[in-house]
Amino acid sequence: MTTVRVLVIEAAGPESAALVEAATACGYQVHVVTQPDRFATYSAELRTALSGWLLTHFSQPEQALHDVIGYARRVGIDAVLTTNEYLTPLVANVCAALGLPGNDPALATTARNKADMVREFVRRGVTAPRTHIVEREDELLGLCATGLTFPCVVKPAEAAGSAGVTVVRDAAEMVTAFEAAQEPRGMYGMLLDARVLVQEYIEGTEYSVESITQNGASTHLCLTRKTVTAGTHRVELGHGLPAHLPPDVQRAVRQEVNRAIAAAGIRNGAAHTEVMLTPDGRCVVIEIGARIGAGQIGVLIQHALGIDPWAACLDTALGRPARLAPTRSSYATVRFLVSHQAGRLVTLSGLPELSPRVPVVRVRKAIGEAVSGVKDNAARLGSFVVVGPDRESVDDYADHLLGQVRIRVEPITPNSPWIDR
Ligand SMILES: Nc1ncnc2c1ncn2[C@@H]1O[C@H](COP(=O)(O)OP(=O)(O)OP(=O)(O)O)[C@@H](O)[C@H]1O
Ligand SMILES: [Mg+2]
Repeated sequence: MTTVRVLVIEAAGPESAALVEAATACGYQVHVVTQPDRFATYSAELRTALSGWLLTHFSQPEQALHDVIGYARRVGIDAVLTTNEYLTPLVANVCAALGLPGNDPALATTARNKADMVREFVRRGVTAPRTHIVEREDELLGLCATGLTFPCVVKPAEAAGSAGVTVVRDAAEMVTAFEAAQEPRGMYGMLLDARVLVQEYIEGTEYSVESITQNGASTHLCLTRKTVTAGTHRVELGHGLPAHLPPDVQRAVRQEVNRAIAAAGIRNGAAHTEVMLTPDGRCVVIEIGARIGAGQIGVLIQHALGIDPWAACLDTALGRPARLAPTRSSYATVRFLVSHQAGRLVTLSGLPELSPRVPVVRVRKAIGEAVSGVKDNAARLGSFVVVGPDRESVDDYADHLLGQVRIRVEPITPNSPWIDR
């Protein structure tokens, strides 16, 4: 039997770990590309699962592309993929250079850079918030003087995890929001596009659509209902799937998502499209990522629908038909644990026990660690997943479990015994 060799660009993180596990279970050789500092954090178990690795620097895109193509040719790689949004443009370019199934390299930044995304959405007629792009504070003030409608949303072109995203209520808050949008630093020391988007605020209910596209044809695995904080900063508190909508609304959502997938040049791979459904029945696309949904969405798909999204991504990257038909009809939800107060974590207890109904419990912060308030998704202290036969019973149980969790955060003061000196 011939050996199948897959190249995973960055294996750190829960989604990548699941991908590596799925590839290993299929008997594939797994090779990884990462940076030296990240590789140092890989567990012994993960390193043992790897057949080889390349260390490069993602902050130098041209050199990284050259290094990855060289490595893939040397080793005889059959498929290249990532679960990390920052690395999706690199994957598109590597696949194109190697002639492997991937996304359109000419549109590779569209699903990563929100300014490029807006341009392509407009060009392709995707229903999206009206957006202005500004580079300097005087442009921002000029825009305010033209009679901008409030609330509006100010966000960075290239961050993620809601970092630097502000819902602005009036003109007086604009400069602070603009500065906040320029604050996030890129993963891997990547230089981020400093442009800032000033966007029409869309009132509505938030969903995401999880899709797999093969040779330009998309299968939408499910609709995910997202629970997000209200107020100035919008942070995800949980997801639940599959969500169901009336057939005509579902059709409208599919149509917009198909347009967004085409606009982002997604031809072979996963897509995670975030949409807002307005009270008057419109579907507005907030953004698209050329990757599987993060925040345990892959795990929810496995438990609720019986579809293995990691195997589907591998089959797609290998150019094989993916198994995308549901084999189960359950419901699954994830709840994120957050502190509304910034400070030092002193209590995190009462977490649920692992059981068939609660297959995942994850803690991200240790007692004594500094935590931020709910400003972005980095504020998550942990999460747990609940599965069951229907939405109502699963949500009730998840709410009950969440009510048992005790989180206490103390402010950090100069006299705090915790303070790092
Ligand atoms: N135009 C908008 N109208 C209303 N709400 C918005 C708008 N843009 C963003 N939001 C809210 O802010 C959240 C974060 O925005 P966005 O998804 O654009 O940023 P992000 O950094 O890519 O976030 P993530 O990586 O968590 O998906 C959205 O999930 C949504 O709740
Ligand atoms: Mg988003």
